[in-house]
Amino acid sequence: MSVPGWLRQRLEAAGGAVPFSTYMDWVLHDPRHGAYGSGRLRIGTAGDFATAPSLGPDFAGLLAPQLADWLAELAAAGPGPVALVEAGPGEGSLAADLAAALAAGWPELARRCELVLVEPNPGMAERQRRRLADGPLPCRWSSFAELAAAPRRGVLLAHEVLDALPVERITWDGALWRRQQVVLRDRPDAEPSLRLEPGESLEAAMLAPLAALELLSPGAQRPPGWTTELHPGLGAWLQEAAAAVAEGPLLVIDYALEAHRYYAPARSDGTLMAYWGQQAGADPLDQPGSTDLTAHLCIDSLQEAAAAAGWRSLGHCRQGQALLALGLAERLHGLQSLQGPALAQALARREALLRLVDPHALGDFRWLAFARDHLDGHPERSPRGQPRFLAEPAAGP
Ligand SMILES: C[S@@+](CC[C@H](N)C(=O)[O-])C[C@H]1O[C@@H](n2cnc3c(N)ncnc32)[C@H](O)[C@@H]1O
Repeated sequence: MSVPGWLRQRLEAAGGAVPFSTYMDWVLHDPRHGAYGSGRLRIGTAGDFATAPSLGPDFAGLLAPQLADWLAELAAAGPGPVALVEAGPGEGSLAADLAAALAAGWPELARRCELVLVEPNPGMAERQRRRLADGPLPCRWSSFAELAAAPRRGVLLAHEVLDALPVERITWDGALWRRQQVVLRDRPDAEPSLRLEPGESLEAAMLAPLAALELLSPGAQRPPGWTTELHPGLGAWLQEAAAAVAEGPLLVIDYALEAHRYYAPARSDGTLMAYWGQQAGADPLDQPGSTDLTAHLCIDSLQEAAAAAGWRSLGHCRQGQALLALGLAERLHGLQSLQGPALAQALARREALLRLVDPHALGDFRWLAFARDHLDGHPERSPRGQPRFLAEPAAGP
């Protein structure tokens, strides 16, 4: 495991060790060296890892009616454009496919819509610009801070982006919770290498989430060495997102677990995973700056942070259930009638649709919807009932 020169210099300048969250931020988001910052990571079946939108346009096709419901409701609330804001658009596939689906299925509504992409990593934004150059909706790139200067009515979509926020890894040493750190071992007789070690004890402010998760209660003792993650950046992200949208829902789609599963005693090394070249690994120190690092979200912590930021929960479910409610079974059924040259394509789409609902993989993703209800004193304008994706799936075709 070699240590790239830039990382070695950074660690030396920091005194030889940094908290894991700093390391994760550097190796993912550094504009020159980070896996996303540089645009080095490729998303898709031929890239480093696949996501649901990268399997083909059916994912966007299924999601589009839900977004159209929300966008139509916002468009009916007053004149002017409504925004479809996507945070962390990766290759731009979901935004491009959603724009196409909205323009084809809801042309009048689409004329009121603009696409706004929030992507802090310059390398990724460059690829998105190429992918979305000739789309049917007006499209621009912005930041939450810029949007907050003139907040729009809009739908905010966060597909597999919150799992890329740097996590703090914490370890119980038998007496104290310690912040895990990444340490540079630089000896004259060996190649420099990286190690994970328990660092300083957690400061009081960091202990509050542990109390909420009941990890501090005597009955919740963990064995020495037990390690997990906290998401220190989540609250700020949700607050910035809330300030960027004047009115409208937020849909988070991501790897997520309930707190009792996330922090279960048996999960002794958290949820952190590394992806590169379609391989999944558990070593976050392998190939820094070339691999994707991702940690699951804790549903309870996310909901608490969302409520604190002014987002009201509209409910959540597994992706399998959401996509069935949005018509996945009917879509699969429709593929059966394709023959001739379209057959190969139909088979590929069938396989992709089944991957989306596989309960051991993408089907276990969670869809969590929230709403911003601060309507300049007109809360009655936003009844926003149960989202379509939470309805009971229709009986089979
Ligand atoms: C795992 S990829 C997901 C890409 C895409 N949503 C998909 O599902 O195919 C994470 C994306 O989020 C971006 N990202 C990372 N941190 C972000 C942040 N704080 N705000 C917005 N986007 C971010 C990354 O650059 C990348 O485009």
